[in-house]
This record gives sequence, structure tokens and C-alpha cells, in this order.
Amino acid sequence: MRFLVTAGPTREPIDPVRYISNRSSGKMGYAIAEAALQAGHEVILISGPVKVDPPRKAKFVLVSTSDEMFDAVHRHANHCDVCILCAAVADHKPAKVSPVKIKKRSGNFSLELAPTRDILESLGRQQDRQFLLVGFAAETNDIVQNAAKKLRAKNCDIIVANDARLGMESDENELMILFRHSEIKTLSRAPKKFLARELVKIFSEFATKTFDKKNETITERTYK
Ligand code: CTP
Repeated sequence: MRFLVTAGPTREPIDPVRYISNRSSGKMGYAIAEAALQAGHEVILISGPVKVDPPRKAKFVLVSTSDEMFDAVHRHANHCDVCILCAAVADHKPAKVSPVKIKKRSGNFSLELAPTRDILESLGRQQDRQFLLVGFAAETNDIVQNAAKKLRAKNCDIIVANDARLGMESDENELMILFRHSEIKTLSRAPKKFLARELVKIFSEFATKTFDKKNETITERTYK
């Protein structure tokens, strides 16, 4: 199968030397890309800037902003069987990017932010999609409830939920996997590389089932 994986943070420029970003290390997405390659799949890894080296056998697309990630994902998604959106895409970006460095001011100042485009949601709106759509949800509270809401709102097939405080910048994580037909699986705390192998197995099995009954399961949506 062909896997598309997004990973890492995005950077939303404020001026030529500053940006808004977050603490995502990219490790989970990179581990999934590596595990998918090891399982014999083809992988396109679309990543924001991180300190991890990409797996050598992956097709690697380096992006910086959420807009670049949006375009790269849309260029490749329809050629893939499984799309896993693991990136910590910034939810907001500066409404205007200053072409010159903003000078220090003596008092407070506000920066106007505009929403970024939601990449996962845009793929979820594609009703005739031929790929399994997997989103991630990093939550700090009511993890399962919040993740279930995201699954419905973004119309994906699977949401992998985790506690943001446990997973960010760490080599380990604990995951709750929510399927669109309400089933939930838990993968208890383990190294991200181990979890990645389990996830790849789950995704490829689910994709195989889905493709066998393509017309029923890809277009049928039980969460409304
Ligand atoms: N996501 C995306 N594009 C965005 C924001 C998020 O594709 N502009 C994707 C992420 O890659 C992830 C999922 O949406 O797969 C959930 O991201 P998360 O940050 O947990 O949720 P948000 O929708 O941003 O909601 P909130 O920050 O309020 O929890």
C-alpha cells in the first residue's frame, strides 16, 4: 500500500525572523513512516522542520507553513491508500506577515491571528475518497470525548488520541484509537517506535477491509 504521513510542527511567519510554532518533535510521525516502510509499504512523508532524519526509503517533502503542508498533502493524497495526518499544524497564523523585521515597542502590542486551513477536515470533506483517513488528537483533558468529537467533525475513519503532556517531545506515548464505528482500542504506554508498528498493522488491516467493501464503508458515515 501507499502511505502518506504528515509530521512535525508548522511555522507561521510573523516577519522575516520570527514565527509561531509549537513543540512537536515529529517523532511519532517519523516512527510511523519508518514502520510502514519496514512492513513493505511505500511512504510519502510530508514534514515540518524537525531534528529527526527522515527514513531513507521514504519520499520526503519538507514544508514550513500550514499552507505549504496543505498543498503538499492535496498533491499526493489521492494517489495514496492510507493518509495519516500526524502533524501538529498551527491553528492560527498572523493575519499579515510583515515584510521587514518588526521593531521593539515600549508597551504591549497585539498580533492579529487568522485561522489556518484544516488539512484533515479538507480531506474528510472529500466524500468519494479512496483512502483511509487517520487523524491524531493531542488533548490535555477529556481525551476520548474530545477525540470522538474531532472524528465526527473532521469525518475521518480513525482518530488516534493521546495526552498532549505525555507525547510531546517524548520517546514514549500512550494511545487511544477511536474507529468510526465507535470501537475504541488502547495501546498502553510504550516507545513510539513500538506503537508505530502496532498502528501500521491496524491501519493496513482496516484499509484492506475498507477497500474490500469500498462503496459501503468509504461513503457510508455513521457519525453525523
Ligand atoms: N489538523 C490539520 N490541519 C490543521 C489543524 C489540525 O490537518 N490546520 C489535523 C492534525 O494533523 C490532527 C488533527 O487535525 O490530525 C487534530 O489536530 P488537533 O491540533 O488535535 O486539533 P484541532 O482541530 O487543532 O483542535 P484543538 O487544537 O482545538 O484541539
